[in-house]
Amino acid sequence: MKRRGSGSLRAADAGERVLLQAWVHRRRDLGGLIFLNLRDRSGNAQVVVRPEEAPEVAAVLAEARQEWVVEVEGVVARRAPDAVNPEMATGEIEVVAETARVLARAAVPPFTPDAKVEASEENRLRYRYLDLRRADLQRNLMLRHKATLEILRYFDEQGFINVETPILTRSTPEGARDYLVPSRVHRGEFYAMPQSPQLFKQILMVSGLERYVQIARCFRDEDLRADRQPEFTQIDVEISFADEEEVISVIEGMFARLFPLVGIDPAPPFRRLTWAEAMARFGSDRPDLRCALEIVDLGDLLGGSGFRGFRQAVEEGGVVRGLAVPGAATASRRLRDAWAELARGQGAAGVLILTRKEGELAFQVKSVLTGDELAAVAQRAGLEEGGAILLVAGPERSTAAALGALRLAVAREYGLIDEDRHEFTWVTGFPLVEWDEDRGRWESTHHPFTAPDPGDLDRLESDPGSVRSRAYDLVLNGLELGGGSIRIHQPELQERVFALLGIGAEEAHERFGFLLEALSYGAPPHGGVAFGLDRIVMLMAGAASLRDVIAFPKTTSATDLMTSAPAPVDAAQLAELGLEMMPRGEGES
Ligand code: AMO
Repeated sequence: MKRRGSGSLRAADAGERVLLQAWVHRRRDLGGLIFLNLRDRSGNAQVVVRPEEAPEVAAVLAEARQEWVVEVEGVVARRAPDAVNPEMATGEIEVVAETARVLARAAVPPFTPDAKVEASEENRLRYRYLDLRRADLQRNLMLRHKATLEILRYFDEQGFINVETPILTRSTPEGARDYLVPSRVHRGEFYAMPQSPQLFKQILMVSGLERYVQIARCFRDEDLRADRQPEFTQIDVEISFADEEEVISVIEGMFARLFPLVGIDPAPPFRRLTWAEAMARFGSDRPDLRCALEIVDLGDLLGGSGFRGFRQAVEEGGVVRGLAVPGAATASRRLRDAWAELARGQGAAGVLILTRKEGELAFQVKSVLTGDELAAVAQRAGLEEGGAILLVAGPERSTAAALGALRLAVAREYGLIDEDRHEFTWVTGFPLVEWDEDRGRWESTHHPFTAPDPGDLDRLESDPGSVRSRAYDLVLNGLELGGGSIRIHQPELQERVFALLGIGAEEAHERFGFLLEALSYGAPPHGGVAFGLDRIVMLMAGAASLRDVIAFPKTTSATDLMTSAPAPVDAAQLAELGLEMMPRGEGES
């Protein structure tokens, strides 16, 4: 007899004889009757055993405990009306067991794979195979599978070729540390695992593949958070002869195919913001646009005021900006202190507060601003009765960052995020490079292969900080889903950018000689993008962590608690690789 999924049974199956092979989710022994709740990938069903009618079946199933694997053959019967369970998809029926067999016994599990998670995160990861028996995790993996198929189908229809690129390779600079693999054959030499397939996909364009896509595994040794894993999956794309518009339209088409899988219409074309606008209005290069609050510039109104803090900021080339927050006039001392702390964490001096209570405007520092100044500021920021303006003054970067962090904090505090909305936005016109204080040199905002804006190219050496790039990021609800750029396809320009980044000709040749050489053999103009598949599925599934959409994730300290990886290796293995372990503490950073 063919096996049926437990969760697939319905009232229409009443009278059918079925074979179930499934896990015992719960068991109730009422003396005269035994009820088993059986669970498999399709869902749960109730099996009933009547010891009087089927004593052998009762003997077998009386023994069965939670998480045992059993086989039951029986007849589907409608439940009595008062026994119908409307909470269960199979709640109208039960299966009356006629034969039964134990297929596998189970040790007493450390937790029950129920919808309600009671186990600790540590136990869930240690016994991941039990955790994965949960219906919601199985649903997430199924969604991931469907999404992956839909993505590949879409790119296939658009003329893309799926190409696999190597895992054992050379370093690809994406801003994280590399995972290294020692070579046995070439003693003292190492492969690097790819932080992304960036260089290979560009070389595939030189090879004439024109349109490339890959569901690519990437590896980055970086500090982990809920939205980062040391190994993760990218939807990696590269297109020859493309400009920004073409890449953007291909990607919007992909989202228009993908999100309907979870009943969301992403409604492209997506909004676009320049980086400068995003920083000025939302204080972030990945703004959460589900919150309507906007930062306003107040430098022209307050730069000449009687308050020294504002005057000085403007005189020194900085800014004065503010954020009106409805309902914040009565914010507690504790909350205000937390805001000041948050602003300081972003490098700002602090936060000053202007309130409107019973029509009266009041600035925290008494008698330094005139009534007209207060009124003008309140009007520009849109300050309502009962609201407060959070003011920050100082250098532009730290002021924007502080107000960006405050915007998110107050949005959460006052419930100003509309959780039902899906706000996609492209961010474009990023600076090509940023000054790294610690290292004392320019660093790429994205990666060194990003093309500079041709209009800014004449300032590449004289004023690098003012050069914009041809990069674009896609942000959804404040989370960066992906990013990419039009690339440099001329070897001379690539060498100029390397030089700007302090990568001399010799080092460039040593690390990226193969790319420079490839670019010299007729490289088409090209551009591309990469998206975090894990992040996309996490948002589609409404999950809180990447761990909920990855079958075997790692902890925030990059360990796999199930296999206990990473693990020590024996001295012989190290010797074969020509390696020796340093004493603890030496060479560690
Ligand atoms: P980038 O470094 O922005 O670009 O990565 C693209 C996207 O990959 C996802 N991502 C991650 N997801 C989970 N865990 C991580 N540790 C992690 N790191 C990145 C993010 C991110 O937006 N080669 C370029 C793309 C290009 O230029 O075409 C690149 O890798 O969603």
